[in-house]
Amino acid sequence: MNENKVIVELKDVKKKYFYPQGELEVLKGINLKVYKKDKIAIVGPSGVGKTTLLNIIGTLDYPTSGEIYYFEKKLDYSDEETLLKLRKENIGFIFQLHYLIPEFTVLENIILPGLISQWKKEDCFKRAYELLEKLNLSEKKYYKPFRLSGGERQKVAIARALFLNPTLLLADEPTGNLDQESAKEVMDIFLRINEELNITIIMVTHNWELAKKMDKIFLLKGGFLVKLEDT
Ligand SMILES: Nc1ncnc2c1ncn2[C@@H]1O[C@H](COP(=O)(O)OP(=O)(O)OP(=O)(O)O)[C@@H](O)[C@H]1O
Ligand SMILES: [Mg+2]
Repeated sequence: MNENKVIVELKDVKKKYFYPQGELEVLKGINLKVYKKDKIAIVGPSGVGKTTLLNIIGTLDYPTSGEIYYFEKKLDYSDEETLLKLRKENIGFIFQLHYLIPEFTVLENIILPGLISQWKKEDCFKRAYELLEKLNLSEKKYYKPFRLSGGERQKVAIARALFLNPTLLLADEPTGNLDQESAKEVMDIFLRINEELNITIIMVTHNWELAKKMDKIFLLKGGFLVKLEDT
């Protein structure tokens, strides 16, 4: 299923949150190798640290200890510029609560990463139209998010995450608020982009049926990741 190239590796990653009344160690020693074109599901009960782990993998947060390697190079958290470049060039995010900008149209929301990256305007539009087409959203391009269904909003979030052509797509419960049919459609899109564009996917989900469509399932429990073998 993969070309054996390791994209990301986590070595003994720990994460503590500190509060006035004490501390909480959410991740107690995570080891994980993510290979190119992997389809990984992370499952586990609420509050166990799935979002924390995804944010750390995506370099949006940092571990309290342990190491993370991208393309065999260790992340250096003091070098914000390199982290930013790595994120921009390689990582697409779909957040647990999708952060579409309500005042922007579908098209404008999708184009945002291109504008931030200072792409030429015509390249931005070309890419956006390509994605609108791919995700079957063309007819809704001038709609604002409030006029979209949950499934359509999630597709806009996916289009935006794909805009800069990431190596790795991190999705935090992308189907959490969707009915079964929209969840299936979103899932089919993930499978398609994995297959057609070779994009590696790490998805947090509570939906066991969807998790089973990935090639690897990990359970996060008690601060550790446990690989669930195929049954
Ligand atoms: N920024 C933060 N500061 C302090 N504590 C945090 C922070 N983020 C998360 N936590 C705590 O860490 C634990 C894990 O949170 P996290 O959001 O990673 O869980 P989760 O597995 O994603 O849960 P859910 O399935 O409900 O989304 C929780 O107890 C939470 O309160
Ligand atoms: Mg979460």
